Amino acid sequence: MVQGTMNLNTQIDKEWLQNYVDDWVAFYQKTTEEGKVASYIPVLAEANPDHLGIAIYGKNGMNITSGDTDVTFTIQSISKILTFIVACMERGVSYVLDRVDVEPTGEAFNSIMHLEMKSPNKPFNPFVNAGAITVTSLLEGKNSQEKLEPVFELLEKMIGYRPIINQQVFASEDETSARNRAIGYYLLETESLESPLDVTLETYFKQCSIETTVTDLAKIGLILANDGEDPDSEEEIIPRQIARITKAIMLTCGMYDASGKFATYVGIPAKSGVSGGIVALAPPRVRNAQFPFIEGCGIGVYGPALEERGNSVAGMKLLKHIASQWDLSIF
Ligand code: DON
Repeated sequence: MVQGTMNLNTQIDKEWLQNYVDDWVAFYQKTTEEGKVASYIPVLAEANPDHLGIAIYGKNGMNITSGDTDVTFTIQSISKILTFIVACMERGVSYVLDRVDVEPTGEAFNSIMHLEMKSPNKPFNPFVNAGAITVTSLLEGKNSQEKLEPVFELLEKMIGYRPIINQQVFASEDETSARNRAIGYYLLETESLESPLDVTLETYFKQCSIETTVTDLAKIGLILANDGEDPDSEEEIIPRQIARITKAIMLTCGMYDASGKFATYVGIPAKSGVSGGIVALAPPRVRNAQFPFIEGCGIGVYGPALEERGNSVAGMKLLKHIASQWDLSIF
């Protein structure tokens, strides 16, 4: 692997960066063997655990992609960012945050225990399943299609096309959903849901089954890095306040019970999903030296071999390495 700090006085050139990133991806690809693909949703178990790919998108068309970038995968929990943004746009930030808190849990993403023990009427945050299912219930619309239409419209503005729902993954989610149904019934009992339970869960399973690529995730990250504005057209895609709150919750809760460590050792907002995707971003930063992507970037990573908390094992290591080499930390 290429070691050491790059020559920061050199004009940053794409080919030069590409060589570094290719080398890092090849190195961290070997760490995929430390993880396991998710198997609690049977279709997800079909993923190739050796895959590792990354896309990094910056301003002015600057982008780097490396590794297994052509593989499509379902967005899973990364969709929780999108539904949170849309719910805030539709219902207002205070309405949503009156119903879902913004506190990290330190527990597994699908934990039920902490809901009952610590917060009977308000899920901890929009990225644990209880909070995400509540947020999905707040989306306007009578059925899953109506609820998800603004999510697809938002996605289309961010990634430039309308993605599909992977029907096989959706069916697999639905068939193996006992725990999410248990969470749903709990939320029903505490009167947290604003849509019927079946509509809410169908919408939640569909949002998790949206098919995506690392390039899509990098584009989503770049718009968030740019406080909700498209850096090319300067169009406001997400209101600034909502983009900022979303980034804060990504930093504190985006990597589940590894969020504290990720914030400490990597230092950038990120959100993972059990299919192995991670969306991350670095806002524009002020540094004396000239680092790559100094004006901010969005990063999409895919590596389906997961550590025990449900985050891509090689993806996290790769992000940590890049963040330290390029001084991406927001702190
Ligand atoms: O709720 C579930 O089980 C999934 N469909 C989404 C979970 C997920 O991606 C959690 N991520 N780490």
